[in-house]
Amino acid sequence: MSSLNELPAYEDMSRFTRSLAVFYETLRLFPPVTNIPKVSAEDTTLTVGNVNGGKTTFPIPSGTEIDLHVAGLHYNPRYWKEPHKFMPERFLGNWPKDAFIPFSQGAHACLGRRFSETEGTAVMTMLVSRYKIEVKEEPEFAGETFEERYARITAFDQGLSTTPVRVPLVFTKRR
Ligand code: HEM
Repeated sequence: MSSLNELPAYEDMSRFTRSLAVFYETLRLFPPVTNIPKVSAEDTTLTVGNVNGGKTTFPIPSGTEIDLHVAGLHYNPRYWKEPHKFMPERFLGNWPKDAFIPFSQGAHACLGRRFSETEGTAVMTMLVSRYKIEVKEEPEFAGETFEERYARITAFDQGLSTTPVRVPLVFTKRR
């Protein structure tokens, strides 16, 4: 996409690595699905790392309900350096694929993943190439620190999904 008026094509997608990194970092910090319930279809075991650096194996009888705690994994400092920080660049190099599960994993992982990544990246790229996007200045928040502003803008409610509370942005058309 060389000019502001051009539409990104599917072939351009592999070049939008930064947009995809921003999209991923947003999904890591604010996963739309925070909890994925599963039921074991057969007797099995689950081996996980423990705090002593070893492994613990749990028996999982058929019918056991297990929740994949998406946010718990996405904020785990064992896999993510400074997990509370918005750092898209963490997705530009090598990153822990198994610790990023906004679309779940396995046979029933999200069927729309590729579609949603492509659409999300295309829309974001078009928006930032056409508009300068700023947080709206409001008198009642004058004087707040960067950290206070970050906390205010990124505050979310967590129910079935993650919902932003209030994100007052100003879009100014680029020439
Ligand atoms: C950011 C956007 C999206 C997120 C975070 C997301 C996340 C998820 C998650 C967590 C699951 C559950 C997987 C499991 O049970 O282990 C799922 C399933 C599914 N998603 Fe998405 N999804 C997104 C967008 C979409 C879109 C755009 C479509 C369709 C065009 C879609 C279609 C599906 C389907 C069909 C399933 C069921 C897969 C199955 O049970 O085999 N999703 N998604």
